[in-house]
Amino acid sequence: MGKLDGRVVLVTGAARGQGEQEARLFAAEGARVVIADVLVEQGEALAKELGEHVARFVRLDVGSEEGWAEAVTVAKDAFGKIDGLVNNAGILRFNELVNTPLAEFEQVVRVNMTGAFLGIRAVAPEIEAAGGGTIVNTSSYTGLTGMALVGAYAATKHAVLGLTKVAAVELAGKGVRVNAICPGAIDTAMSNPALLDPDADLSRSDAALGAYYRKLVPMGRIGRPEEVAALALFLTSGDSSYITGQPFVIDGGWLAGVSLF
Ligand SMILES: NC(=O)c1ccc[n+]([C@@H]2O[C@H](COP(=O)([O-])OP(=O)(O)OC[C@H]3O[C@@H](n4cnc5c(N)ncnc54)[C@H](O)[C@@H]3O)[C@@H](O)[C@H]2O)c1
Repeated sequence: MGKLDGRVVLVTGAARGQGEQEARLFAAEGARVVIADVLVEQGEALAKELGEHVARFVRLDVGSEEGWAEAVTVAKDAFGKIDGLVNNAGILRFNELVNTPLAEFEQVVRVNMTGAFLGIRAVAPEIEAAGGGTIVNTSSYTGLTGMALVGAYAATKHAVLGLTKVAAVELAGKGVRVNAICPGAIDTAMSNPALLDPDADLSRSDAALGAYYRKLVPMGRIGRPEEVAALALFLTSGDSSYITGQPFVIDGGWLAGVSLF
């Protein structure tokens, strides 16, 4: 028996990275998954690999209202209901606040913050209609503290925690639990862009990241997307049945304090 038998979960940004691992783990735990992303080729390939009884790909730009309406229709046509959502899609831009163009700030807000809002608004009524379920929002380490050069990103990730708490309060009586994940540094294309470069020497970028996070993170290493997926599974499954409205930090101890050695 899987932890998600009978469930139908839509995961945004699921074509690669943490979202991909969430889709894979949820499917392995018995869920049917809707893989929603702007990366069509990768999303379709993942859905094909998981099989049509288990997975569907839908092209979704999470900042688009119409896109969400269509994604809900695709999910219900394929699997009859939706009773879980993981708002995972996100983008990161590096800039000092005083140099950040308005368009860049608004682009980050559109995907990370408006995307999570639209997802909750489109899917929560479906989860209620299905008899209850879960929403997991993806915030960040920088949803709880500051970090130079990621002002727009940190603002949106703080906002995601605000959305999570309000949604948890408003939806508790409707059988919908809403929690948030706050990852530290996780080994995906977002923190390790070399993963996207076919010509990159991955052993070099891995070594550089390894050295960096050995110093910064008490556990001495970068996190793996599979580890974040395991937390998303906990928050989506009945194992977390009395938990709602909470941020869950998964960061190897980074936020716990400063390492001296
Ligand atoms: N990797 C990290 O260190 C880290 C740390 C903290 C939080 N996060 C958060 O985790 C989540 C997943 O990121 P990741 O690490 O897997 O990075 P990633 O870049 O590999 O994955 C992000 C996914 O979101 C998709 N996406 C981007 N814009 C989209 C849009 N408008 N509509 C739909 N999909 C869109 C991308 O195509 C991609 O598949 C993000 O919300 C990110 O902010 C990541």
